[in-house]
Formats: sequence, C-alpha cells, structure tokens
Amino acid sequence: MKIALLISFLLSSIGLAQASNLAKGKELVEKNNCAACHGANLNEPVISAYPKLAGQYADYLYYSLKSYQVANNPNFGRKNAVMASQVTQYSDADLRNMAAYIASLPGSMVIRK
Ligand code: HEC
Repeated sequence: MKIALLISFLLSSIGLAQASNLAKGKELVEKNNCAACHGANLNEPVISAYPKLAGQYADYLYYSLKSYQVANNPNFGRKNAVMASQVTQYSDADLRNMAAYIASLPGSMVIRK
C-alpha cells in the first residue's frame, strides 16, 4: 500500500511540465498573496526565516506544497502550521500550476554551471 502510494505520488509529479498552466498559477499565487511572506516576486522574503521560492525547480515546489497538504502522512507529510493553512483549498492541478509559475520567476539563488 505504501509503495503504491509512493509510485502514484511520484508519477503524478512527472507530468508536471505538460500539465501546468503558468497564467493560472500566477493568478492563484497573486490571489492568495503568497508574496505577503515570500516577498516581491517570491524572491525577497519579509523575514529571513521564510524561504525564497523564485526559480526553484517546479517538481520540488509541487512536492513541498503537496507535503504540507498531507502533513499527517508519515512518509511524505511536512508539518508547518503556517504553510498548511495556505494550501488546504487547492487541487492537485492548482498546486502544479503554482509550482510551474513560481519556477518560471527569476530567482537570485540559482547556481549557474
Ligand atoms: C504567512 C506567511 C506565508 C504565506 C502567506 C505563504 N507562505 Fe509559504 N512558507 C512560509 C514559511 C514560514 C515557510 C517555511 C515552512 C517550513 O519550515 O516548512 C514556507 C514554505 C513554503 C514552501 C517550501 C519552500 C522550500 O524551500 O521547501 C513553498 C513551496 C511555499 N512556502 C509556497 C507558498 C505559496 C505558493 C504560497 C501562497 C499560496 C505561500 N507559500 C504563502 C510562509 C508563508
């Protein structure tokens, strides 16, 4: 059962690039005012305890947003009261769209090789 969950979770992450809609993601991010904490362009958090998000990999962003939604899952859950309250209302497609949009923003923490 746990293996099946893991596989479906991973498979659902793989379709990210094709399935996502940047405009819809932008709309959701702006409507929810994620910038109130993560800062301008999601790249200048208002305090240094909040992470920069801009330019992060879309797969990682989706995975982390999903993890807050399944906080009580012992394998994938990520417990954080602040972020849990930010993600409860979103569908999987919403999370993918937000992740794709945030990944498309220019971030200052990118390491260029
Ligand atoms: C009230 C402040 C606040 C708001 C609003 C907020 N966040 Fe967060 N966010 C945080 C904090 C604090 C953390 C770090 C939580 C932790 O330690 O897991 C975080 C973490 C994250 C992470 C994980 C980053 C990483 O590097 O692992 C993502 C992704 C994220 N937020 C996306 C969003 C999105 C998308 C929105 C809007 C829908 C949003 N946040 C709104 C405070 C906020």
